[in-house]
Amino acid sequence: MSHARDRLRSAAGRDIHTAVVLGTGLAAVAGAGDVVIPYAELPGFPQGQVSGHQGALVLRDDARGCVAFLLGRAHYYESGDARAMAGALETLAALGLRNLVLTCAAGGVREDLAPGSLALITDHINFSGANPLIGVAGDARFTPMVDAYDPALRARMRRAAGSANVALQEGVYMWFSGPSFETPAEVRMAGLLGADLVGMSTVPETILARHLGLRVAAVALVTNYAAGVHGGAPEHAETKRVAALGAEKMQALIAAFLEQDDA
Ligand code: HPA
Repeated sequence: MSHARDRLRSAAGRDIHTAVVLGTGLAAVAGAGDVVIPYAELPGFPQGQVSGHQGALVLRDDARGCVAFLLGRAHYYESGDARAMAGALETLAALGLRNLVLTCAAGGVREDLAPGSLALITDHINFSGANPLIGVAGDARFTPMVDAYDPALRARMRRAAGSANVALQEGVYMWFSGPSFETPAEVRMAGLLGADLVGMSTVPETILARHLGLRVAAVALVTNYAAGVHGGAPEHAETKRVAALGAEKMQALIAAFLEQDDA
């Protein structure tokens, strides 16, 4: 981790104040960066490939310092390790990171969360039973999860949506382990329990980030109706295709978010 930290510190040359994790099909959101570092050169970052993910970190300067875009994430379903993103997040936190913006593809449980919609994640339900803090010592592991998705950053994301003229819905995200998609019965259950979105990422990263003291904002791109909603039968190829179509909207939203102040 110290090697990755030193490498990033010298490559950035300035404080990395915000990191943006780009989910399936969303790598284009990073745009042209100033520096591109493959994860293979960053010990502790995800190694290996998942379809639809790239595996590199892009640094881009802005008025406040530097933004790190993480092109691709490691998922719980790849290894059964809920700490799959711990090395990357701990490295960034050690560099003084304050804000973590998570993006992901998700299935829409509500009928108004149609494919192509963007939704601000307001809260989550950890349905997987896994937790990245299992095995961590010390009282800090009892990490509070009220306002896990930071209210100030949520307000900032809403303002960004307004200024970028991008429609932004909101919803509660339920984490399923994957990699199989949900059954229609599971999706009906998710809706009854208060979920609006279902997905296979984001939640362990939010838990890790809160444990590290980072502020989190998360935006889902709805790539499909969840299983059984409108006869939905999700497929990974569809997830990648719709995510790529939605990447431009996500890019506009994230760019506006990075320009906004917290206030
Ligand atoms: N379920 C879980 N994860 C997803 C989905 C889905 O329907 N769509 C994109 N990621």
